[in-house]
Amino acid sequence: MRIDVVSIFPEYLSALDLSLIGKARQQGLLELTVTDLREFTTDRHRTVDDTPYGGGAGMVMKPEPWAAALDAVRERGPAPAADPGVAGERPVLVVPSPAGAVFTQATARELALREHLVFACGRYEGIDERVVDWSREHFEVRPMSLGDYVLNGGEVAVLAMVEAIGRLVPGVVGNPESLVEESHADGLLEYPVYTKPALWRDRPVPEVLLSGHHGRIARWRRDRQLQRTAARRPDLVASLDPAGLDRADRAVLAEAGWIVSGARVVRAGDDAPGEPVA
Ligand code: ADE
Repeated sequence: MRIDVVSIFPEYLSALDLSLIGKARQQGLLELTVTDLREFTTDRHRTVDDTPYGGGAGMVMKPEPWAAALDAVRERGPAPAADPGVAGERPVLVVPSPAGAVFTQATARELALREHLVFACGRYEGIDERVVDWSREHFEVRPMSLGDYVLNGGEVAVLAMVEAIGRLVPGVVGNPESLVEESHADGLLEYPVYTKPALWRDRPVPEVLLSGHHGRIARWRRDRQLQRTAARRPDLVASLDPAGLDRADRAVLAEAGWIVSGARVVRAGDDAPGEPVA
């Protein structure tokens, strides 16, 4: 996979030299290039921003350096194949912004299958909207938000997104099984984990985990996932597909106040008549 990041703070992205992503780069699994937007300015002051038309606070990133930088990135990128399809697809241009669609594990899975990702890190009040419109001629444009809060720029969001996407690229995570059981892999939060010692500050590890009984351990973990998700992320419970819930799952959810009603999981009492749980 090829990843380009364009930013006025290339040093921000140096964390991508470290850990699993850094190793994947060394191994050639990820080819990552960070480009300084200021290299594409033409004035003495290397200006990348200007005041907003229509007035208002803050500055807006100018279109010219962005277009020149994105042209350069496109020219360096993998050549489009004659045949449309995976090999000939347009690169994805991810524009981190609090006004984007929320980046989720599903987004990470989808983007991990793409050949070329380009991240355009905006600063100030954002990038002139015409850059986004123009980019649609050459890229699949994806404005993406990490969540409902505001960062000072896209760089930190890119660190998070590149890590989430990169670890799904085959070979990047040594043991691919660890990707199967983690949070969000199946729409639920991960179960709690423990390691040695078995007794620590008067707190024992849950006994079932010492039992060696794989079936009971799997059930215990699944129950904890369901309870934890119900307590912390009711939005995820409401998105569960009842087809993936067995009787034991439904009993745990019922205790947490959720029932299956038709093709949906709803809060008990919100939707009548509910399907009996047991
Ligand atoms: N840039 C500023 N805030 C952001 C957010 N919440 N997500 C992604 N990019 C951003």
